[in-house]
Amino acid sequence: MNWTAKWIVPATPMEDVCPEFYKAFSAKTVRKATLTVTAIGVYEAKLNGKRVSNYVLAPGWTSFKTRLQYQTYDVTELVGGENELTILVGRGWHRGPWRSIRPLPPAGLLAELTIESADGTVKTIATDESWQVRESFVRRSELYNGEWADARVENAPLQPVALFEKSMDNLIPQEGEIICEQERIRPRRIFQTPKGETVVDFGQEVTGYVEFTVTAKAGEQVSISHAEVLDKEGNFYTENYRSAKARLEYVCRDGVQTYKPHLTFFGFRHIRLDAFPGTPKLDDFTAILVSSELKRTGKMRCGHAMLNRLYENVTWGQRGNFLDIPTDCPQRDERLGWTGDAQVFVKTACYNYDVNKFFQKWLGDLAADQLESGAVPNFIPAIGEKGCSAAWGDVAVIVPWQLYLSYGNKDVLARQMESMKAWVRYIGNDTKDPYLWTGHGHFGDWLGLDAPVGSYKGSTREDFIASAFYAHCAGLLAKMSEILGEDPAEFRDLREKIVAKFRATYPEYQTQTECVLALVFALTPDPAATAAELAKRVTDCGTALQTGFVGTPYILYALSQNGYADLAYDLLLREAYPSWLYPIKKGATTVWEHWDGIMENGDFWSADMNSFNHYAYGSVMGWVYEEAAGIRPLETAPGYERVAIAPQPDSRLGWLEASVETKYGTVFSGWYYETEGLRYEIRTPVEAEVTINGETKTLAPGNYLFFA
Ligand code: BGC
Repeated sequence: MNWTAKWIVPATPMEDVCPEFYKAFSAKTVRKATLTVTAIGVYEAKLNGKRVSNYVLAPGWTSFKTRLQYQTYDVTELVGGENELTILVGRGWHRGPWRSIRPLPPAGLLAELTIESADGTVKTIATDESWQVRESFVRRSELYNGEWADARVENAPLQPVALFEKSMDNLIPQEGEIICEQERIRPRRIFQTPKGETVVDFGQEVTGYVEFTVTAKAGEQVSISHAEVLDKEGNFYTENYRSAKARLEYVCRDGVQTYKPHLTFFGFRHIRLDAFPGTPKLDDFTAILVSSELKRTGKMRCGHAMLNRLYENVTWGQRGNFLDIPTDCPQRDERLGWTGDAQVFVKTACYNYDVNKFFQKWLGDLAADQLESGAVPNFIPAIGEKGCSAAWGDVAVIVPWQLYLSYGNKDVLARQMESMKAWVRYIGNDTKDPYLWTGHGHFGDWLGLDAPVGSYKGSTREDFIASAFYAHCAGLLAKMSEILGEDPAEFRDLREKIVAKFRATYPEYQTQTECVLALVFALTPDPAATAAELAKRVTDCGTALQTGFVGTPYILYALSQNGYADLAYDLLLREAYPSWLYPIKKGATTVWEHWDGIMENGDFWSADMNSFNHYAYGSVMGWVYEEAAGIRPLETAPGYERVAIAPQPDSRLGWLEASVETKYGTVFSGWYYETEGLRYEIRTPVEAEVTINGETKTLAPGNYLFFA
């Protein structure tokens, strides 16, 4: 875009107060009006008091140094006669709470309105010195701490703006999905805690904010705190938010009024009314889910109530953590694009929703923030982060591959090829031993249950994990080079050498996760023996998981693909701690960071790291779609141009139905235990390789019934 607009900021800094930029103009017969906006911060634009779009928290979160999105809105319907354009700017991510970005840049605005009249003349109203600015009712707004608003502030005096010297080179048109309000949730109950706190329970952990209605006198105060869970006494619990204050403060004007935050978000299930004029009623509150606008593509239901609830929790977790970037959690003073979490969850994410565009944008930021060495920072946008770890940085290769498989997106491979190669070559340069990755500290099998006391890292050897992922990514890169018509020799050869060295270095496996990686990345020379060893390690500890972030996403695959589907189901359906279903028994409505975020006796895991909305372990749903229902995209016909369907039923579920909406239509796989035996139902819009009872047939598009 050829900008006429210039960056403007308030001429006199407003400290914490969010500025509202202002421009009045007249427009006669309007044929078409288009507004293009971006900000240093997050903005909300209105024309004549009406929001120009349902986009919230625009311009979203990217690696601002090189990539700042702008949005273009058709505002033809909103312009006519005498007009006022107002744009509110809050801190958002650009002026976020990160320690690495200090001093904060000022709240800046870049906007350009183009009005085409009926007579063909075009008028441009662009940010420049003629604009004005005033203090808004939002006195302070910040991502972790929340929002402070004063409804009495209206039409504060207009003040001058100043031009702001800033390069325009980083501007890019909107690449991702828009962020908007997705769902309104009525509270389940309002009650007093033993401590005497007034708490509203929405019955579901969500990301977004609360809208409330209150009747008050000017100057009266509404004060709201957010929490995910109650403690074992039933009191409001906020310690796990760490330093994030997550508060909503509001000073009322006279009369009945309804408010919701404009420039921030929270992760919560409960709110505490620290101050609220009058007697609060259920109807006064609504929780609003805010996330990227993603199309739902996957569905799963089965005859097992707790598994259904787990599935719901995983999708709620995805919705709450796919807020422009894939975050680890939405509530504490973190909410970052942790690469490891995205890496383990991407497959499940691709089944549940169409995340093609969402991840493609994030990969653009990954490439932008990749270090000169090729290292991929631990979170993206990196906001100054320089550290990297195996299984985290490998996201650079694993996500493009998944987008290729799930959506047939070949462009993303081309776009990311340099980034992927740089990552794999970086490992080769960083390692102490050729063809392994040694000598670098990693997160290991993060939160593994076999961690030594006092450590967050499971017992799996860090170099083992790093070298296994090195082999895996070299292999994927060879495949992707070939797909793009490049010579795959470098990476094919690299993978072979890594595998040989790996086998020589690690003739034995010491943990569940080591067995898992050796199996799923095809590193073991003897899969049958390794699978038997894994099965033994699982049963020896009471048929339970000991894996962390690295092993958990793959363990059921390692079992079911090697003859131990029953054991995979045993783990999936286990209800005692540690297990996927244990948190459900404890009332979880999203997936927890720790299997025992709330322990048997009601105590919490340490407050320093205890999120109740962390999707990483939700990656198990990929297995349910791909192995239990058996719906799998084919490498040779990605994006479901053809499909493999190989269900693996288990009578404990009774029945299961899963479907995936693809660009060719809906793929459906269902199985039902009936008195006469098993019935399978398959519907496929494309040619399918269907495997039932070990027998594979190629089927034309259509609907099929099988009995076994
Ligand atoms: C995050 C994780 C992340 C980890 C890295 C945590 O604080 O919440 O999910 O992957 O750090 O070890």
